Amino acid sequence: MTTTAEHDAAAEARRGAFSGRRVFILAAIGSAVGLGNIWRFPYVAYDNGGGAFILPYLVALLTAGIPFLFLEYALGHKYRGSSPLSFARLSRRSEGLGWWQVGICFMIAVYYAVVVAWALSYTVFSVTQAWGDDPNAFFFGDFLQAGDPGVTLEFVPGVLLALVVVWVALVAVMALGVSRGVGATSVVFIPVLIVAFAALVVQALRLPGAASGLDALFAPNWSALGDPAVWAAAYGQIFFSLSIGFGIMITYSSYVHRRTDMTGSAMVVGLSNSGFELLAGIGVFAALGFMAQAAGVAVGEVATSGIGLAFIAFPTIVNEAPAGAVIGLLFFASLVMAGFTSLVSVLEVVVSAVRDKFETSRVRATLLVTIPCALFSTVGFSTTSGVYVLDILDHFINRFGILLVAVVSMVVVAWVVRALPRLRDHLNRDGSVPVRGWWIVLVSTVTPLALASVLVRELWAVLEEPYEGYPQWMLLIFGWLAAALVAVAGFAFARVPWRPETRVDGYDDEDDAVTSDAAGRDL
Ligand code: PFF
Repeated sequence: MTTTAEHDAAAEARRGAFSGRRVFILAAIGSAVGLGNIWRFPYVAYDNGGGAFILPYLVALLTAGIPFLFLEYALGHKYRGSSPLSFARLSRRSEGLGWWQVGICFMIAVYYAVVVAWALSYTVFSVTQAWGDDPNAFFFGDFLQAGDPGVTLEFVPGVLLALVVVWVALVAVMALGVSRGVGATSVVFIPVLIVAFAALVVQALRLPGAASGLDALFAPNWSALGDPAVWAAAYGQIFFSLSIGFGIMITYSSYVHRRTDMTGSAMVVGLSNSGFELLAGIGVFAALGFMAQAAGVAVGEVATSGIGLAFIAFPTIVNEAPAGAVIGLLFFASLVMAGFTSLVSVLEVVVSAVRDKFETSRVRATLLVTIPCALFSTVGFSTTSGVYVLDILDHFINRFGILLVAVVSMVVVAWVVRALPRLRDHLNRDGSVPVRGWWIVLVSTVTPLALASVLVRELWAVLEEPYEGYPQWMLLIFGWLAAALVAVAGFAFARVPWRPETRVDGYDDEDDAVTSDAAGRDL
């Protein structure tokens, strides 16, 4: 017979754990605050009503983001496993959902590392403004050596080197484990990131023309509120930005001590992430205001997001701004730190799933996951065609991966397994935010319906017009096939049996001791 405390101590020793709630919160913020906050949110807000966007954004945060975060925290914290193990303990039939998320995370890690590697190179380039007078020509030409869309195996040494550096750092962090690797990375990087980014915002606000950038961002266009596309954008942004639907939050909360206030933690994470998003909006648009003024054009002409914002607009700003090198360094170093902690979180989903299923050592599981991932990443993306494949994968995995698995998992948990009441009770045991019937209504009905309508819109859009005009065969392989593959592989993986020592069936130990293993033997 073992008591729950003894069982927990053994599980912690085996799987790893965060040393406390503070580390968990920092790691969760580290995952949530990523490129999405810095290069995606500002433009999405600007493009969808400016100041008026705050309303759909807050509605999406409160009706979908935080409630779904509660759901993932409850699953991981109650069932105390990686995403597949938590789903398997919830109900054997839902295990495939966890592996589907693992597949999505693997895919994301493959290409997200590439962007972090580019940002790392650009951090160094900032010092001398190595991109010269034409950052656009430099990025696609000298730096990426991008040809026409297609697939080539011509390596670009500069990109390859940075990518190797990123992967070596990732392998080291992942091998160090949950507390000394994953936790420690966020404990160091997140405070530094906040200080660096705040310094960037202060610098940006002092640039001439900053005010016109802020005007462009915040000027409310109230009529946008009548447009369903604006609401869809808000829900899409919240999901991506909070890192929900990836299985990350399930995995991280499985490393948190049992008697922890999970709902209060979710509020801290959700609000910090949105706070950072707002800060990024201010910094990015202040800088874009300066860029527009310097070029003598309206802010709308230079406003952009993603790769164009980071690797073309920002270098242009650095070239022209007083103390431009400082702005460049702060901006690109922020991208690296924000991206790296998010990358660690997606890899942890995969490493922890492999560890739970096969009970390998941390180092073995890390190598098993990171070596193929790093190979795909370097072979696939340090070539002259990498940028197009990356763009397509990112677009499709976000929509027909993350959003889809989120909808399906809510429907399964709420309507097939009917687990929401027990998850609610779990949250209420130590939670500081009381969870009542409203949560069940949101998670079972409102959020899935809202997300399903976002998905239908997206599906319509890609069917109507090939994404960004790429050739159909590329969209088919790197878009549809990739998204389908992770789902199919996920459900196939769920058929691999658990080891007999892993207690899967009937795992519902709130206070009572775990007394037997899967084979019914006393522990
Ligand atoms: N919340 C992250 C972001 O805003 O960038 C989303 C994310 C993307 C997390 C990619 C992890 C990741 F690897």
